[in-house]
Amino acid sequence: MDPYKHRPSSAFNSPFWTTSSGAPVWDNNSSLTVGTRGPVLLEDYHLVEKLANFDRERIPERVVHARGASAKGFFEVTHDISNLTCADFLRAPGVQTPVIVRFSTVVHERGSPETLRDIRGFAVKFYTREGNFDLVGNNTPVFFVRDAMKFPDSIHALKPNPKTHIQEYWRILDFFSYHPESLLTFAFFLDDVGIPQDYRHMEGFGVHAYTLIDKAGKAHYVKFHWKPTCGVKNLLEEEAIKVGGSNHSHATQDLYDSIAAGNYPEWRLFIQIMDPDHEDRFDFDPLDVSKIWPEDILPLQPVGRLVLNKNIDNYFAETEQLAFNPAFVVPGIYYTEDKLLQTRIFAYGDTQRHRLGPNYMQLPVNAPKCAHHNNHYDGFMNFMHRDEEVDYFPSRFDPVRHAARHPIPSTVLRGKRDRCVIPKENNFKQAGERYRSWAPDRQERFICRWVDILSDARVTHEIRSIWISYWSQADKSLGQKMATRLNVRPTM
Ligand code: HEM
Repeated sequence: MDPYKHRPSSAFNSPFWTTSSGAPVWDNNSSLTVGTRGPVLLEDYHLVEKLANFDRERIPERVVHARGASAKGFFEVTHDISNLTCADFLRAPGVQTPVIVRFSTVVHERGSPETLRDIRGFAVKFYTREGNFDLVGNNTPVFFVRDAMKFPDSIHALKPNPKTHIQEYWRILDFFSYHPESLLTFAFFLDDVGIPQDYRHMEGFGVHAYTLIDKAGKAHYVKFHWKPTCGVKNLLEEEAIKVGGSNHSHATQDLYDSIAAGNYPEWRLFIQIMDPDHEDRFDFDPLDVSKIWPEDILPLQPVGRLVLNKNIDNYFAETEQLAFNPAFVVPGIYYTEDKLLQTRIFAYGDTQRHRLGPNYMQLPVNAPKCAHHNNHYDGFMNFMHRDEEVDYFPSRFDPVRHAARHPIPSTVLRGKRDRCVIPKENNFKQAGERYRSWAPDRQERFICRWVDILSDARVTHEIRSIWISYWSQADKSLGQKMATRLNVRPTM
């Protein structure tokens, strides 16, 4: 299918320069002036239009994940999971679905270096026959906070200081010292994986628990994992400085060059599966986004492969205007009660209506590639030509009917209206287990990074002590080592 079929055919095929209205331009070099020097005449419409368009070339960058690169390809089912889900695109091994993937860094601006320590975004849009499924994940399996009320503040703390426009660790350590649930995510952020070598050599995770539902309505919780076939590789600080110093777009370049050379990046998709009836069997809440599901208890099951074999043709159209939304699920896949995921269902479309305009779903890269129909229309920059006379539902004059019903989770939801913290916080155990799983040199690098940021002159004694106490609760020897090097007595 031609993704540009809506593009007006006349706009790009003139053999000579024209204005936007199609008037011939006989001189695209010199402004219209009185005499050879000037003044310039306001009636030089071509000049005015050229500058006016140029003045508006940039759109607001994404409020987070502004720096990114995308590529296209396909997802292929390799293992039958039709017993778990009625999702059409997962119906049988061998089924292929076109995808576009955008990798990103989270905190810094659109033009920032790709070698900075940061979480990386890993967002996949599956153009299925039943609409788009967007798996908008990260390269870490967990997230800093579990309640969206804290999301804007956490991003403010991570982003540059509003006064200096410099990212400052004292602000990050101050904010997150109130949030021990962030500990496990910091065990990724300040670990070696905090600077992936490039986008090809990193893992991806759906992060939240999602629900898979079969035809009969039986639901399972799942977590999604992407594993790169070329392995995981990271940059140590000195390497990152070297790479970033010579090319601030090294990861975008690596992705583009690999695909252009036919060395197609590939990931395997795995799921972990949990019966919702078993969710109370754990010492953590399985829907808590700050926790991983132990792989020895809930092993990874293979599902398919993702191959990126086509570069984008235009960065603005296919990366800047690209809009992912965790709300976009398809029959057979559903959300869970995870509070953070619930809020993401609202936030993405909301920001995109601001960032791209209310008709952003008509943009070729965002529109579903299957037939679709509704009565949401018009508004700024509508470019869909509609000739129906009936724009209401129901109508005896409109043949479009409801789609066949598909199952959604039948969980009975009950509870008192309240603002709560989840009962099973368990903030320290998994962070300690992760630290203990590392080789001594990796542990040492992690400690050095912590000592370095906690040594910042603006980190107070109180904040330093809190972090040492948190890490002591995760792993006693780790807290002890930090305390000794920072000359602080650990308080538990
Ligand atoms: C992008 C909000 C949590 C992964 C964004 C954007 C917003 C946002 C406003 C910009 C979207 C755009 O302009 O197109 C939120 C909120 C969250 C949240 C309110 C919590 C309530 C998360 C989590 C993950 C995540 C937990 C990982 C699972 C991403 C990714 C992108 C993104 C990968 C970039 C998508 C792209 O490449 O265009 N988020 N986010 N976010 N978010 Fe989140």
